[in-house]
Amino acid sequence: MNASIKTPAEQQLMRIAGRLTADVLDMIGPQVQPGVSTEELDRICHDFIVGVQQAIPAPLNYRGFPKSICTSVNHVVCHGIPGDRKLRQGDIVNIDITVIKDGFHGDSSRMFFVGKPTVQGARVTQVAFDAMWAGIRMVRPGARLGDIGHAVQACTESQGCSVVREYCGHGIGRGFHEDPQVLHYGRPGTGMELREGMTFTIEPMVNAGERGVRLLPDGWTVVTRDHSLSAQWEHTVLVTATGCEVLTLGAADRP
Ligand code: MF3
Ligand code: CO
Ligand code: CO
Repeated sequence: MNASIKTPAEQQLMRIAGRLTADVLDMIGPQVQPGVSTEELDRICHDFIVGVQQAIPAPLNYRGFPKSICTSVNHVVCHGIPGDRKLRQGDIVNIDITVIKDGFHGDSSRMFFVGKPTVQGARVTQVAFDAMWAGIRMVRPGARLGDIGHAVQACTESQGCSVVREYCGHGIGRGFHEDPQVLHYGRPGTGMELREGMTFTIEPMVNAGERGVRLLPDGWTVVTRDHSLSAQWEHTVLVTATGCEVLTLGAADRP
């Protein structure tokens, strides 16, 4: 695996793409309400990305994916295809946004509650959030990918949840999915060493039950084998001289 180092000019373009990605999530959050369908959320995001941001929704037609965003509800782990299912009170939903601006990608996802969540829905969502941040906190030059994976896995398993192994974070830049693969499990001190100028995602999928998953016949939708709830959060990060810059922070979290 060979991770590319972004130049300062490329890093600036990644900042812009990351900010636009976060802006889409900030925009769509208040629209996640009981009765709205996931394809309505897709259309709103598509129109905002294309019409307002003058950017490109990267998922649309990516390897045949038919929509502009991924919407993964309850026991859907990732890559849910927006459709006519209306969201209901108590659902938990991941919305995953990837935009391309001036040739560079930003990739981020968040969980949203439809009305008041169940205890289990709130719990798996919080564990996935904490696990993502445990991984992000490891990012600095000289750290290794295994340090990130271990931190994510330890955080998740210490709270009685499990980490999905079949999907991982990834380098990102001009490409949607670049090297390296960023596993969400592993051993400290192993794997590629991080260097200033690398950009990649950390995006753990956390199941309330067992870690096993199944791909539905649509070829995209990934669900938990045991039908337990699943949650995911994702940020795009840049390795800086002293640590890490999170490129996809929402407006409320920006310094
Ligand atoms: N955004 C996802 C990721 O985090 C990838 C979605 S691929 C798609 O890597 F085709 F389903 F959109
Ligand atoms: Co990603
Ligand atoms: Co994503």
